[in-house]
Amino acid sequence: MATVAETVRQPKIRHTECFINGKWVPATSGKSFETVNPATEEVLAEVAEGDAPEIDAAVKAARHALEDGPWRRMDARERGRLMYRLADLIEEELDELAALESLDNGKPIRDAKGADLPLVIDCLRYYAGFADKIHGQTIPVRGNYFTYTRKEPVGVVGQIIPWNFPMLMTAWKWGPALAAGCTIVMKPAEQTPLTCLRMAALAQEAGIPDGVINVVPGFGPTAGGAIVKHPGVDKVAFTGEHLTAQIIMREAAATLKRLTFELGGKSPNVIFADADLEAAVQGAHFGLYFNQGQCCCAGSRVFVEDAIHDEFVERLSELNRERRLGDPLDPQTEQGPQVDRNQFDKIMKYIDLGKKEGAQCVTGGERFGDRGYYVRPTLFDNVTDEMAIAKDEIFGPVMSVLRFRDIEEVAARANNTFYGLAAAVWTRDVGRAHYLANKIKAGTIWVNCYDVFDAAAPFGGYKFSGQGRELGEEGLKAYLETKTVTMALPGE
Ligand code: NAI
Ligand code: MG
Repeated sequence: MATVAETVRQPKIRHTECFINGKWVPATSGKSFETVNPATEEVLAEVAEGDAPEIDAAVKAARHALEDGPWRRMDARERGRLMYRLADLIEEELDELAALESLDNGKPIRDAKGADLPLVIDCLRYYAGFADKIHGQTIPVRGNYFTYTRKEPVGVVGQIIPWNFPMLMTAWKWGPALAAGCTIVMKPAEQTPLTCLRMAALAQEAGIPDGVINVVPGFGPTAGGAIVKHPGVDKVAFTGEHLTAQIIMREAAATLKRLTFELGGKSPNVIFADADLEAAVQGAHFGLYFNQGQCCCAGSRVFVEDAIHDEFVERLSELNRERRLGDPLDPQTEQGPQVDRNQFDKIMKYIDLGKKEGAQCVTGGERFGDRGYYVRPTLFDNVTDEMAIAKDEIFGPVMSVLRFRDIEEVAARANNTFYGLAAAVWTRDVGRAHYLANKIKAGTIWVNCYDVFDAAAPFGGYKFSGQGRELGEEGLKAYLETKTVTMALPGE
């Protein structure tokens, strides 16, 4: 096994309390919860279990920072500078942060370092550049008036994130909120609170004023629910399951909060016979098994044209068998454990269901090792559209391969889902690529590639996959209110 520096193998866990108004505080209840290393099933740390009192304190701090503190008076360029500084501090600590992310989440260190962290830094810098470029318009109106718009921060924002990309989801939420001048109450996922807490400390070190960013670890219905119900929170940005979003929508109705949602998917990955087969096999493998299959946009329904079906499945199976599962901190490891026991059990249940429903399990279909929540890369062939494994979001390393014959058929089947987050098309025929790109109802379409993300490119879902967009300029708009000012001018 490759050697890993001791500091990186055992990164310091420096923060396990709530971060409210620039101070580290325990939960008033005195309660805490365990965060577990999913590779070993050992407890990593006890973390303060925030609930309504901590959320209330955090909202008050955020409100004060928004309306009275230095954040309010700070000019936008300075706000951007602090964000660049935060990105720099994260970059300086990249190795250690990547290791901490890998420990808490189970993702391979090579992914944490090579994918998550660079995207985190990029996102913060992208939005830092926006901070002083947010402006309204002057608008010609009927009559003798001068009308202009101002773009103002939406206010105190509650941000609730999942465990699959803990730091990246933090950056996606903080970037546009800070650029817009909002203040933040964040609840990280209970499975993976550690890196978000570390980012809060770095934000303080970067000079972001106290109260601007507050982080309250805790559980969904309690700490998360308290954010959603709090009358002092103007907007909630949520990433997670659509069932949770439905609860949030109902609970936010009483205070009519602005809501943005980034939810799940059952994304189709369509492979035509004329595609560069090697690239398509690699892309399908990466598009599903990356991050242990725990991606909202995972290409879990792989539609393969009849003519190349057998060769495709054979080549993909070979890649699956070669995939290196193991210690996430080993730089050679390509796949780590699932995030926790719940997710592991859910995935194993779907694997059983797939077998019972008559799909053919070509690779995997079982646990790897006897410690940690590892699932072997699983490929089901001869899957039909009605099977549960073809319909439900499994959120694990389980791929369904479905055959198709023609483009209209595959377009209809690709859209036959209540999700609409992403899709991919592999073909050398440009016309066909654009035809499907137009036809498939999803927020992101990749052609001859998969999982290509950029801070500048909007991301989000149609249908049950979400509401609103993150990233890019659209992501920023979700954190702004428009104010129209009209002034009567002298004269007739
Ligand atoms: P979840 O939606 O329950 O959790 C996501 C976040 O929401 C966590 O911070 C959680 O504490 C919080 N939360 C839960 N209930 C809440 C409530 N009533 N009010 C406010 N906040 C609440 O997702 P979970 O249970 O972690 O995973 C279940 C399934 O959801 C997965 O198997 C997967 O299919 C899907 N999922 C999708 C994600 C995505 O990126 N779209 C991310 C995580 C999960
Ligand atoms: Mg849940």
